Amino acid sequence: MDYIKRLNESIHYIREKSNLVPSIGLILGSGLGSLGDKIDDPFIIPYKEIPNFPTPTVEGHKGQLIIGQLGGKNVIAMQGRFHYYEGYSLEQVVFPVRVMIGLGIKNLIVTNAAGGVDENFSPGDFMIIKDHINFTGQNPLIGKNIDELGPRFVDMTNAYDKELIALAKRVGKKIELPLHEGVYMWFTGPTYETPSEIRMARILGASAVGMSTVPEVIIANHQGVKVLGISCITNMAAGILDQPLKHEEVVRISHMVKDKLEQLIIGILSEM
Ligand code: HPA
Repeated sequence: MDYIKRLNESIHYIREKSNLVPSIGLILGSGLGSLGDKIDDPFIIPYKEIPNFPTPTVEGHKGQLIIGQLGGKNVIAMQGRFHYYEGYSLEQVVFPVRVMIGLGIKNLIVTNAAGGVDENFSPGDFMIIKDHINFTGQNPLIGKNIDELGPRFVDMTNAYDKELIALAKRVGKKIELPLHEGVYMWFTGPTYETPSEIRMARILGASAVGMSTVPEVIIANHQGVKVLGISCITNMAAGILDQPLKHEEVVRISHMVKDKLEQLIIGILSEM
């Protein structure tokens, strides 16, 4: 079936279940999914029920869309995302973003866990993403362009919206949450980077590294949706501290600080 047909099938399935039109999409990253549980009047749809959605690989991992209200706004949240390193094609990775856009979102807030490359960062800090470096050689828009969705050549000058960044900083000040601002560099994973790759990343201008977000942000830009990106620095990137990197530590730190991130995002939503 052609792509637009598959997309519309998924969109119609969700519209039939919930008539709430979301204006803001949220992608909740590793360990940061609990914000979804704060959504008022939630309508929950497991990914596996939605026609044409990729099927989650990890048993017991939450993989669901939640539609409802947060910070007084109509939102749709992805509790659990699809990563390229899991073996999904990039088309599958970004499919849910296209669906959220089809349902009506005009803004997308993406969160992730990331390794700190900037030595002024500490685990537990937050970084507003001001730009990214796609270091994978991959791009979800490779292939025939679907002109109904967006242009062949996409301007990425303002991939992360300046007004949303300013708003996030204002809310950060108000709730006394210090925020860094920096450049996120996408590696495919699933290996963490080597110390040499991290030195390279720093020379190239990265402040943090991670294994997600960039494909989704490219799709939002393709379809004219404004993006705000927030990284939770869960660890210092490889080679900075004299200790190995562990997924358990990434999860532990993101759980430790998720309440602050939730407060920040709810504050941002209520002022959007
Ligand atoms: N590298 C890549 N991805 C990550 C890291 C990291 O150090 N920490 C959390 N996600």
